[in-house]
Amino acid sequence: MDALKAIMTRRSVRDFKHDPVSKDDVQVLLKAGMQAPSAKNEQPWHFVVIDDLDLLHAIPEFHPYSKMLLDAPLAILVCSVLDLEKSSAVQDCSAATQNILLAAHAKGLGAVWLGIYPNEKRVSGVEALLELPEDIYPVSLIAVGHPASQPEPKDRFKEDRVHFNSW
Ligand SMILES: Cc1cc2nc3c(=O)[nH]c(=O)nc-3n(C[C@H](O)[C@H](O)[C@H](O)COP(=O)(O)O)c2cc1C
Repeated sequence: MDALKAIMTRRSVRDFKHDPVSKDDVQVLLKAGMQAPSAKNEQPWHFVVIDDLDLLHAIPEFHPYSKMLLDAPLAILVCSVLDLEKSSAVQDCSAATQNILLAAHAKGLGAVWLGIYPNEKRVSGVEALLELPEDIYPVSLIAVGHPASQPEPKDRFKEDRVHFNSW
């Protein structure tokens, strides 16, 4: 899929078949994440691939908007090695997250970004569940799977949000 088409047609998928995501596809998603731009090219990210169903099913206990994980075969946690409040790691990890969403869409998979940081309950929930070290900071979680249904693309362009040279 061409990059612009992927950007224009990507939607959040929250309805998954139970089929697993192949190892090759997971590798493509991780490579896409690590291709993201980052401040000073620090690439502060680490990725935790979660395909243990018991772990996936435990996440909605502390994350109220993650119920699709009861059906998804996989999720990827994007974390940082840099303190999120003292660095550009939130932006860096967000760029990696968006790359993974677009790569999933381009591969015919479905995915949805689940916010973790800065919600304290979600941060401490994933830290405990996935046994993250003290100096690893979770930013976002991405549910991934084969779509059981695919939302239609939406045109969100708004002329009045664009300013040329001055406001
Ligand atoms: C920072 C961030 C956090 C989000 N958190 C959640 C979430 O916890 N649960 C969820 O179902 N969707 C979440 N989303 C997805 C948004 O709801 C979705 O992107 C938005 O409604 C636009 O729809 P679209 O992705 O289909 O274009 C999040 C998106 C972002 C960027």
